[in-house]
Amino acid sequence: MTVSNIEDLRQQARRKMPRMFFDYLDGGAFSERTLARNTEDFDQWTLEQRVLVDLSKRNLSSEILGCRYSMPVMLAPVGFAGSFWPDGEVEAARAATEAGIPMCLSTFSINSIEEVGAAMPHGLAMQLYVFKDRELASELIQRAWKVGVTTLFLTADTNVSSVRERDTRNGFRTSSSLKFGTLVDLLSHPAWCIRMGLHGRLMLGNVKGKAGVPRSLMAQAAYLSGNVDPSMSWADLEWLRGEWPGKLVVKGVLSVEDASRALDGGADGVCVSNHGGRQLDGARSSISVLPEIAQFIAGRAEVLLDSGIRRGSHIIKAIGLGADAVLLGRAYAYGLGASGRAGVSQAIELLRKETELTLALMGMCSIDELRANRDAVRRCYSESSGSNRLDVERLLDGIGHTPISSISD
Ligand SMILES: Cc1cc2nc3c(=O)[nH]c(=O)nc-3n(C[C@H](O)[C@H](O)[C@H](O)COP(=O)(O)O)c2cc1C
Repeated sequence: MTVSNIEDLRQQARRKMPRMFFDYLDGGAFSERTLARNTEDFDQWTLEQRVLVDLSKRNLSSEILGCRYSMPVMLAPVGFAGSFWPDGEVEAARAATEAGIPMCLSTFSINSIEEVGAAMPHGLAMQLYVFKDRELASELIQRAWKVGVTTLFLTADTNVSSVRERDTRNGFRTSSSLKFGTLVDLLSHPAWCIRMGLHGRLMLGNVKGKAGVPRSLMAQAAYLSGNVDPSMSWADLEWLRGEWPGKLVVKGVLSVEDASRALDGGADGVCVSNHGGRQLDGARSSISVLPEIAQFIAGRAEVLLDSGIRRGSHIIKAIGLGADAVLLGRAYAYGLGASGRAGVSQAIELLRKETELTLALMGMCSIDELRANRDAVRRCYSESSGSNRLDVERLLDGIGHTPISSISD
C-alpha cells in the first residue's frame, strides 16, 4: 500500500496492531468530540497564496527551547509506545535524532529513561506525572537530569484520568487481566505477537522493580493510573521548580488564566494541549485557544502546541498563530505501530515535505519568514465576524479604490 499521508499510516497501524493497543492509541475521551475538533478546527483558518517568489533556497530550521532543530516539531510523550513496537521509545528517539528534531519521553514508557537517553544524546525531554509518592517523582527527575535531559514537561491535565470508552471495552488500564476477546484479538495478530515475543517487553521501564509496583503491564497500567496524585496544584509547580534545574514546560494549558499561573510559577513555557482529546471531552480545540494564549504570553516564554496535527498545513497554521513549535502525538505513533522506526521516520518526512511545500506555495522559504508574516494565516471569512471584509476595505482604501461599504448593492 502506498503511504501518502498520516491517515494512510493510521490505516496500516490499525491492521498491524492488536485492537487493544490500536484503540488505546487512536481513541479519545467519552464521545470523542474534542478529539475530532482538534483536527477539524484547523479548517477555520486559511493560508494566503503568493506567487512568483524565488523559492530556490528553502529550509524549515527553527529554535525550540533554546536549541536549533531541523524544523519546529517535537515528538510528544506517548505512554506505552513500546507496546506498539519492540523498544518503541528507543526506536522513536532514533528516528527523531536522524530527522534532527527533539522528543519528549513519557513517564509511562516501556523503555527506561536511561535506555532512551543512550539512544538520544541531544534533544531528549522528559514528561512527568506526579505520583502520590513524591519520592518516586523526585527520583525520576534526578535520573532524567543524569542522562542529559534539559527540559521537563509537567503534565497538568491528568489529576484525574478521563474515561476512554474504547479502553473500557477492551479492559485496558481498567482491568489487571486480559479479557477473553482481547486474548483472541492478540492471537489474531501473529506478527505482532512474534515480534513482541522475540524482541519486546511489556513492562514500564521507569518503575521496573519498584516496591509495590505489579509485574505485568496490564496491572502496572491500572496501578500507576490510580497513583497519579489528584491533589496536585499550582503550589506543586513551585515545588517542582525548586527541584528541577533545567527548563520547565507546563503541558495541558488551555486558558490565558492557567498560562498566567504557569508563568507566575516559574515555567519557561506552556504547551497548549487538551491531551489529544483524551481528557475533557467538550474542551476547546488547542488551535482555537492558541491565538489568545500566544498573544498573552507575547514572547515572555515558549509557546508549544499539540493535539490534532496530521498535516503540514496544520504545522504552518500553528506557527502562524503564535506557536514556537508543535508536538506530534498520534501522527508519529501510527508510524511506530505500522513499522517501527521506519514508520516514525516516514511520518516525520511526510510532515516535513507537506510543511515545506505549503510554505513555498505561500511564497515563503523559511519558518522565520512565516513568523514575520503571521497575517498569511487568516480566519475564514464569516458573515458574522466580517473580519476579512475589513481587510479588503483597508487594502482597497490604500490603493485609492472606493471602499466596498460605499458601493450600493
Ligand atoms: C497513546 C497516547 C498516549 C499518551 N501518553 C501520554 C503521556 O504518557 N503523557 C502525556 O503527557 N501525554 C500523553 N499523551 C498525550 C500526547 O502527549 C499529546 O498531548 C497528544 O497525543 C496530542 O494529540 P495528537 O495525538 O492529536 O497529536 C498521549 C497520547 C496518546 C495518543
